Amino acid sequence: MDLKLDRRRILVTGGSGGIGSAICEALSSEGCEVLIHYNRNPEAAERLKGKIRAAGGNAEVIGLDLQELGQLGSMVEETGAGGNLDGLVNCAGVYEDEGMEDITENQWNRVLNINLKAPVFLTQQIRKILNNGSSIVNVSSVMGLRATKFGLAYQAAKSSLIHVTRSMALSYAPDVRVNCIAPGYVTTEMNRDGWENEDFRKKIEYVTPMGRWGAPADIGPLAVFLLSPVSSFVTGSLFPVDGGIGIR
Ligand SMILES: NC(=O)c1ccc[n+]([C@@H]2O[C@H](COP(=O)([O-])OP(=O)(O)OC[C@H]3O[C@@H](n4cnc5c(N)ncnc54)[C@H](OP(=O)(O)O)[C@@H]3O)[C@@H](O)[C@H]2O)c1
Repeated sequence: MDLKLDRRRILVTGGSGGIGSAICEALSSEGCEVLIHYNRNPEAAERLKGKIRAAGGNAEVIGLDLQELGQLGSMVEETGAGGNLDGLVNCAGVYEDEGMEDITENQWNRVLNINLKAPVFLTQQIRKILNNGSSIVNVSSVMGLRATKFGLAYQAAKSSLIHVTRSMALSYAPDVRVNCIAPGYVTTEMNRDGWENEDFRKKIEYVTPMGRWGAPADIGPLAVFLLSPVSSFVTGSLFPVDGGIGIR
């Protein structure tokens, strides 16, 4: 199937991370020019850029701490310098394990700022340089759908991002589509403590109907589909990619 993504320019926040990198690689393999965003890990972003270019693709890197919303304007200017954009993936995120008993205000603010506030205000800015027919993908989480005792701020941010996606979709239709992916447990730096802990790793394998943790590469193809014009009748929707854990 021709996904009609050739030469489309797409910005992926958190492109230096596990899931973001996999989305960048999947997009590049379909001919997209990817703008790889990073925060504290420029090396990972540069490594990915090198890998994509070595394979004949087109990639640039852009750094910004998404807690610094005052600097969004310059990021958008830098992003727009090479031409307009055809897509945005809001993938950057952080996790804090604390629940209702021990969450601090600082943890709450950090998690909500990076996982929820930044996607809203970045999208608002980026909209100015999005071509009509563009697509936006927000990366939420299965934890935005299921309550647990831990990760309170994360659950609040990710569940809100699902609803915000619907509101964005209404605001931007019919020119720009907005959808949401909710990954299950995926082996990245974010939850290294979890999958390196044998008990927890096995517990997740047991409760996941597909019997395993997700890999970052499990998320890329759906992001590619949602960013492609072939999904032009899909907006405001939520897509879990979670090995079935969400149906329990
Ligand atoms: N792994 C999972 O099981 C899982 C499950 C569901 C949803 N998700 C979601 O998937 C997304 C990607 O997570 P991941 O698993 O790939 O984790 P990861 O490997 O830790 O990547 C996190 C990304 O977020 C960026 N980031 C963190 N703080 C930032 C800040 N202040 N400003 C800008 N960027 C910042 C990081 O940039 P630097 O590294 O350059 O600092 C990195 O690129 C997140 O939204 C996460 O919530 C993950």
